[in-house]
Amino acid sequence: MFKSVTDFLIYAFLGPSTFAREQSADNKPPSPARGNKAYERGEDVEAQLYRKILNPQGKTQYGNMGYWTDGVETLDAAGEALARLLGQAGELKPGVRALDVGCGYGDEVIFWAKEFKPDHILAIDINPISVEAGQEWARALGLSERLEFRAGSAVALDLEPASVNQVLSLESPHTFLTRDAFLREAFRVLVPGGGLAMTDLLPLPGRVVHHFAFPPENAYSRDVLAQKLADAGFVQIEVKSIRQHVIKPYHRYLAKLPANRGLLGRIRMFQRQRVAAKLDYVLVTARKPN
Ligand SMILES: C[S@@+](CC[C@H](N)C(=O)[O-])C[C@H]1O[C@@H](n2cnc3c(N)ncnc32)[C@H](O)[C@@H]1O
Repeated sequence: MFKSVTDFLIYAFLGPSTFAREQSADNKPPSPARGNKAYERGEDVEAQLYRKILNPQGKTQYGNMGYWTDGVETLDAAGEALARLLGQAGELKPGVRALDVGCGYGDEVIFWAKEFKPDHILAIDINPISVEAGQEWARALGLSERLEFRAGSAVALDLEPASVNQVLSLESPHTFLTRDAFLREAFRVLVPGGGLAMTDLLPLPGRVVHHFAFPPENAYSRDVLAQKLADAGFVQIEVKSIRQHVIKPYHRYLAKLPANRGLLGRIRMFQRQRVAAKLDYVLVTARKPN
């Protein structure tokens, strides 16, 4: 994933939730042939960094900012709370066949399987290393019949039309090239009456954010997103800002990390908070008409 020292520094300073995976315009999984040394060596650099810098005491590898409510004090708990919120919004329950797009290392998928017991979750990510980690984890827990992890692209889903009941995406669509293309794909693979649920990062209405977390194509606000969902064919569209429980508390958490203490750390946090003040974070639900 890290093709240069600059990539590494961006990640180390700003974290995985704000790191836009470098990807080609065709959204194909990153390929060792493109000279990615870490993949060539088979190293799980992202996970190692995540553990060491962002969640040094943690047990999970959630790559999201988390949902922080009273009593939530760790990134593990916040990541799980966000996954729970999305699992509920995505109506996961026995009988459901779901698709998770941008599944990361699989934490949310394993959590949903245990918490909501859907019949099946197909989990897709562009990063083959994280997909493999998820699949191994599911196997170790004896869940591989219900959980399938595949490397693949959000904008070219290798699925038949009308093949899943629910499509979920946890803090990932802002990184897809493009988010609109993903919305069209989600609509295509949903059964009539099926639901889309996602959480996502975007600029606040009226604010312009030049941020590497999202490519310029995805840097539009929640009102535009609602229109794009309608353009893709969705109905019963709800786009709700939950930034109070995500952006601010996540940054408060970051400020306390050892890496962000001292003069340099404070300068870094000041810069991050200036950008964060313009960021929105939404929970989206929508339905494919019957
Ligand atoms: C911010 S992380 C969120 C990961 C996970 N959902 C979580 O909350 O821990 C975004 C994820 O989207 C994946 N991703 C980026 N572009 C993608 C694409 N075009 N298709 C599929 N996955 C993609 C990344 O590899 C990364 O795992």
